[in-house]
Amino acid sequence: MSEIADLQQKIVSLSKRRGYVFPGSEIYGGLSNTYDFGPLGVLLLRNIKNSWWDFFVTRRANIQGLDTSILMSPKVWEASGHTSSFTDVLIDCRNCKNRTRADHLIEAYFEAKGEKKIVEGLPPEELSKIIEDNKIPCPKCGVHDWTKPRKFNLLFETNVGIVTDSQATVYLRGEIAQGMFVNFRNVLDTMRPRLPFGIAQSGKAFRNEITLGNFIFRTLEFNLAEFEYFFDPAKDSWEALFDYWKEEMRKWALTLGLPEEKLSWRTHTDAERAHYSTKTEDLDFEFPFGVKELFGLAYRTDYDLKNHMEKSGEELRYTDPETGEKILPHVIEPTFGINRVLLAVLADAYCEEEGRTVLKLPHTLAPYKAAVFPLVRNKEEVVGKAREIFDMLVSEGVSVTWDDRGNIGKRYYSQDEIGTPFCVTIDYQTLEDDTVTVRDRDTMEQVRIAVSDLEFYLTRQ
Ligand code: GAP
Repeated sequence: MSEIADLQQKIVSLSKRRGYVFPGSEIYGGLSNTYDFGPLGVLLLRNIKNSWWDFFVTRRANIQGLDTSILMSPKVWEASGHTSSFTDVLIDCRNCKNRTRADHLIEAYFEAKGEKKIVEGLPPEELSKIIEDNKIPCPKCGVHDWTKPRKFNLLFETNVGIVTDSQATVYLRGEIAQGMFVNFRNVLDTMRPRLPFGIAQSGKAFRNEITLGNFIFRTLEFNLAEFEYFFDPAKDSWEALFDYWKEEMRKWALTLGLPEEKLSWRTHTDAERAHYSTKTEDLDFEFPFGVKELFGLAYRTDYDLKNHMEKSGEELRYTDPETGEKILPHVIEPTFGINRVLLAVLADAYCEEEGRTVLKLPHTLAPYKAAVFPLVRNKEEVVGKAREIFDMLVSEGVSVTWDDRGNIGKRYYSQDEIGTPFCVTIDYQTLEDDTVTVRDRDTMEQVRIAVSDLEFYLTRQ
């Protein structure tokens, strides 16, 4: 196994073993491309989402939050162009029936030869020509015998009510952006914001993805966070706003502890760019399986508001409070795949050193800030004191865990593996002077801290 595949496998295995991420529907043999977040995964996920909300919404007076429905009228997706243009090109192997995305097949083939080739968005005929010209074999069976490529829509369909006719068809949202566009008038009417301003939300999006693998990188449903930043194109330059948000996105990635050298921007090719965008750049991250998209930034112009205004017949223009002029704002959209962020954070934190496995998670993201241990299990005073300190930290709102199994060495090993920044040990000395030993996950150094200073010490970073 290559070093990279090995690292990926270690992250998958640690995630399962330690309660970060479980395969979806596992007791029934699993459902491909679905995963469940376990007790630690959900804490890490929440910390990432809170960090996003804090950085992009709470700390900016001109960004409003929303939480819109997953099920949306088919009319939304017709107006947004998703029913016609939100497609992937699929191809089947006649020999082993393997179905794959034609663009991913080509890109993986060239990547294995050390060449970066972006073919996403090319028409089926062009993809087919590249596959035929290069005699690209099926990665599963090695045979080159492909069907003709064809387009496949990514929107998940379901039915409202018990009658499954076309009237009852609705779609699970393929992007969360549309919930913000269709509520644009409501936000204008209730909050009276002045341009430029943003509307933000985070929640689940659903895509009927065919490409398997790479753990939670590409799944059927995933956590997404994005905002639409509306502006008057006559007053603000889209290029300047684009650059501003590009820098803010980079800064947020750095606050998550992701190293600068693993981040890089890439501009979409004309063919690759989504149907609604005039310019798109991705912030790519160096995942264990390659450099891939983490965030996206698009200039969607007035594409969405214009189409919704036309198709719904509703007035979606903004009235300039000074001139009374009605304008259709343009929009810059920063978008963040939160599951991918979680994977990037785990991959970057994973480390093996001096006979231990450590997740060097940033303190702000770690599921538990500290673990509390009684030095011994059979001395009532020590255990009682440890419980008292544990309860004190819980009531102070510090995310802590309790461990009294095995010996101290095993407990350290286990907390290192889940990324707990501090281990607090209560011993005989604690009973005398109300101090505890605090061991640092990264340096493994131990210091003696007064119980009265403990909360500050654990949460100061
Ligand atoms: N509203 C814009 C939009 O949805 P996108 O590039 O299609 O843009 C946004 O998706 C982000 O969602 C991507 O940058 C990526 O991080 C993440 N993403 C896309 N498809 C995904 C999938 N199938 N599984 C997990 N994350 C995904």
